[in-house]
Amino acid sequence: MKMKLFAATAVLALGLAACGGETPAPETPAPEAPVAEAPAPEPAPVATASIGETPADPVAFMKTRHDNYEDLGKNFKVMLDNSKLGTPDMAAVSAAAVKVNEYAGQMGTWFPPGTGPEAGKTKAKANVWTERADFDAKLADLQTEAAKLVTATSTDAAAFKAQFGATGGKCKACHDVYREEDKDK
Ligand code: HEC
Repeated sequence: MKMKLFAATAVLALGLAACGGETPAPETPAPEAPVAEAPAPEPAPVATASIGETPADPVAFMKTRHDNYEDLGKNFKVMLDNSKLGTPDMAAVSAAAVKVNEYAGQMGTWFPPGTGPEAGKTKAKANVWTERADFDAKLADLQTEAAKLVTATSTDAAAFKAQFGATGGKCKACHDVYREEDKDK
């Protein structure tokens, strides 16, 4: 009996939340409304969310984005360290380049609406969402160079070192415009 009452109230509440009026708009998703979805068992929202949809849990989504960037950074560091060596560990840089290229391919899905500074802790600046075409162009630049880096790391040390620099320039080009400066460093 209590359950029944609760359910009825919930239905009513959802109806109201949908539009605040009498006619619910069935086709239009309300991004701000709390979405009653079961949480995914494994937190992999980054891989599945499309660019146009606000994730059900923006904070968790942003955490995953950050974790992905951390891992991207780790792989990049492997190459940075090796780029300074006379004899780089080509197996290691090759594996790292494959990872970086994978992340570059996914990055376009990491910034759906509602996951900017207004939603929680992030270094992504608000202009990621207001200057999206340019942001995407900078990402495309990275994707081009990261793909070449995979080839270069399976070629030789000289090819790797040259292409590593070219790739790093694309990371920086985006960070300069779309990522907050580190305040604690
Ligand atoms: C198209 C834009 C873009 C490109 C290209 C890009 N990044 Fe980023 N990166 C960002 C944004 C935006 C953030 C902040 C994300 C956040 O905090 O939610 C970020 C965050 C990071 C972080 C986490 C930093 C921190 O302290 O939180 C690392 C590490 C990183 N990027 C490494 C790289 C590397 C390495 C490359 C190149 C292989 C790269 N990024 C290419 C936009 C980009």
